[in-house]
Amino acid sequence: MRRGSLLVDHIGELVTNDGRDGDPLGVRRDAALLVEDGQVAWIGSARDAPAADRRIDAGGAAVLPGFVDSHAHLVFAGDRAAEFAARMAGERYTGGGIRTTVGATRAASDDDLRATVGRLRAEMLRQGTTTVEIKSGYGLNVADEARSLRIAAEFTEDTTFLGAHVVPVEYAHRPDDYVGMVCGPMLAAAAPYARWIDVFCERGAFDADHTRAILACGQAAGLGVRLHANQLGPGPGVRLGVELGAASVDHCTHLTDADVDALAGSETVATLLPGAEFSTRSPYPDARRLLDAGATVALATDCNPGSSYTSSMPFCVALAVREMRMTPAEAVWAATAGGAAALRRTDVGRLTPGARADLIILDAPSHLHLAYRPGVPLIRQVLHNGVPR
Ligand code: NIG
Ligand code: FE
Repeated sequence: MRRGSLLVDHIGELVTNDGRDGDPLGVRRDAALLVEDGQVAWIGSARDAPAADRRIDAGGAAVLPGFVDSHAHLVFAGDRAAEFAARMAGERYTGGGIRTTVGATRAASDDDLRATVGRLRAEMLRQGTTTVEIKSGYGLNVADEARSLRIAAEFTEDTTFLGAHVVPVEYAHRPDDYVGMVCGPMLAAAAPYARWIDVFCERGAFDADHTRAILACGQAAGLGVRLHANQLGPGPGVRLGVELGAASVDHCTHLTDADVDALAGSETVATLLPGAEFSTRSPYPDARRLLDAGATVALATDCNPGSSYTSSMPFCVALAVREMRMTPAEAVWAATAGGAAALRRTDVGRLTPGARADLIILDAPSHLHLAYRPGVPLIRQVLHNGVPR
């Protein structure tokens, strides 16, 4: 028995995501799980459980991998509640409010931004999210993009440079100059703090040529590619992402058959963000169509003050089941293993020996309850790196 070991015992339903026996969730009943050095050291039947220094009795509850939220914009200041109210009264979402948040973010101090990220990160952890990706994208000048990523890097390894979120007002009539700046001094200042590069490829944001140029510069600087694509209408983003080997294309709300085929024949994950459709009162993407074609689907919150101010993965799971034709099992897989695939990580999103001991003990006997009991705080306890939170 290694010092500091921890046994989680009497697990009624253990979701491992080990993909064994044709069951993607790899569910084991009456299970136990041993944690050593922040990792899963052993899983097996409760009656074979080894001795450990400490023990948590799950009391027959379900245990899941911690959620992997692979798409969040947490570095910002202010909120846009009035914009939300206007949408609920019939206004359309266009992304135009991004510039409002850019103004507030530039005016905020480092400590204010850090406090907001910390507050949202804590909110996520309480709701079972143990891995989160954090984007810049509300600075849109060299200094503010670099500091957004510096602050994001204090909270996660998965930081994403989104200098190409929209063209800021000071470049409104010079988009080519802005793209040159993003690829030049902004990327140079951002890259040391970023693992990924992202572009909002959409009418009114960046077109295919600009998107391609920016992503190529990011790749040359060693960053992995991800993309906001096909959110507000059909467009070239999804196929461009697949062509460039993006880890993930995100939103995927408006897809043609060619987009679906491209995703299905690729390693690129389709990350769906139902909080955005909820909060912009838009039609939801059709996850069933993607899954039936053979694409890999992830779910994430898109947490941001404009289009989706939720930090709750359980809420997204419930929406995906109710509105996007996913089964509860598919939605739970997409919110854990799917998110890990979207971040090209193998250490999270699963509970198998060697994985990070990031797990959720539910106040429920089965993962089904996440969609079956929407809005209910079902996260009884979270372990992050093996440490109870
Ligand atoms: O993913 N669509 C682009 N970016 C965000 C929204 C940002 C905002 O409205 O502030 C999104 O939905
Ligand atoms: Fe987003």
